[in-house]
This record gives sequence, structure tokens and C-alpha cells, in this order.
Amino acid sequence: MNSDNRAMIRVREADGNDLDAVVEIGRRTWPATNGELYDPDFVPLFLDKWWTKDACIPSIRAGRTMVAQAGDEVVGMASYGPLEGRQIVWKLYVLPDWQGRGVGGQLLGAVLERIGHQPTFMSFAAGNDSAARFTRSVGFVEDHREPQTDMPDLVWMRRDPT
Ligand SMILES: CC(C)(COP(=O)(O)OP(=O)(O)OC[C@H]1O[C@@H](n2cnc3c(N)ncnc32)[C@H](O)[C@@H]1OP(=O)(O)O)[C@@H](O)C(=O)NCCC(=O)NCCS
Repeated sequence: MNSDNRAMIRVREADGNDLDAVVEIGRRTWPATNGELYDPDFVPLFLDKWWTKDACIPSIRAGRTMVAQAGDEVVGMASYGPLEGRQIVWKLYVLPDWQGRGVGGQLLGAVLERIGHQPTFMSFAAGNDSAARFTRSVGFVEDHREPQTDMPDLVWMRRDPT
């Protein structure tokens, strides 16, 4: 990891001006990540469910979306929030060209700082080996697998406060 790369990234809370960039990150990164794991027919359905302005606005309004900026460009995003007493990182996406340069680690670090000392969960599709390695490298362990009809299992990872 080159320390110059880390230094040029600024992580901050997203605001309404970031909406288009946040949607674009998902629309570019989700197919690159999951396109080969899901039936091709599912890809547009996922994008229409999770990566539209309507889908991204509530988390931005709630102050629970973070973005990573390199110069003027937003290159990664993360969103988080509670569900049934647990803290969940719902989305963590770095543009393909920016992966492996410390952006995801910095975004997740900012989210974990906000969540504080609480167990935190995040998930990815079984077969997303890059996400498996990344989450383990930042202290998550596998908690359970959630079967999904006609789709890969969701692997749920958990990180307990240190
Ligand atoms: C998973 C993802 C968010 C990681 O972000 P990233 O910017 O690529 O990761 P970073 O460069 O910050 O890496 C952070 C650490 O994880 C490690 N790591 C990251 N990807 C890795 C990989 N594929 N294999 C092994 N280690 C990896 C790095 O070594 C790094 O450790 P270091 O800080 O000690 O150097 C990013 O690759 C991504 O957007 N993937 C597609 C979307 C996705 O799968 N999201 C779900 C994640 S649960």
C-alpha cells in the first residue's frame, strides 16, 4: 500500500450533491463484482432495487452514507444503519479502478468509528472472494450464511468491538 494513495483520499459524510455519484458507483461496481455470480437476468433487477436515486436518498438524508473523494471525483461509498438491534454496513463499494488502493479500508474505518463499540455485520454473495478476503483482513469473521432462492447464499460477516 502506497501511503501517497491514502493521503489523497478524503472520506466524508455524503450530502444531496453526491447523490448522482453514489448511484453511479453502484451501477458501475455492482455488475463488475456480482455479474458472474448471479443469473444475468437478475442484474438489472438488483440495480433497479438498490441503485436508484430513490433507493439511495434515505440513507444520505439520515447522515448514514459516507463517500471517499479523490480530488473532485467520488470513488467509493459506504452506507450503514441499525436493523433489529444490530449495526449493518449495507453497502461498501469502490469503483473498480480504485480498488486495492486503501479506499475501502478508509471508508469502513470511518463507518466503524461512527458505529462505535457495537457488533457490526456486513454481507456479500458467496463466491465474492475479494470481499471475503477484504472483510477478514479488517477483522470480520463469518457469522452465518443466508440462503437465497435461485441465487448464491449471502455470507454474513460479524466484527465484535475490540
Ligand atoms: C471490497 C472492497 C470494498 C475493498 O475496498 P478496497 O479499496 O479495494 O480495499 P483496500 O485497498 O482498502 O484494502 C483494505 C485492506 O484489505 C486488504 N484487501 C483488500 N482487497 C483484498 C483482496 N482482494 N485480497 C486480499 N486482501 C485484500 C488489503 O490488503 C488492505 O489491507 P492493508 O490496509 O493492510 O493494506 C472493494 O474491493 C469493492 O468495492 N469491491 C466490490 C464491492 C463489494 O464486494 N462490496 C462488498 C464488500 S463486503
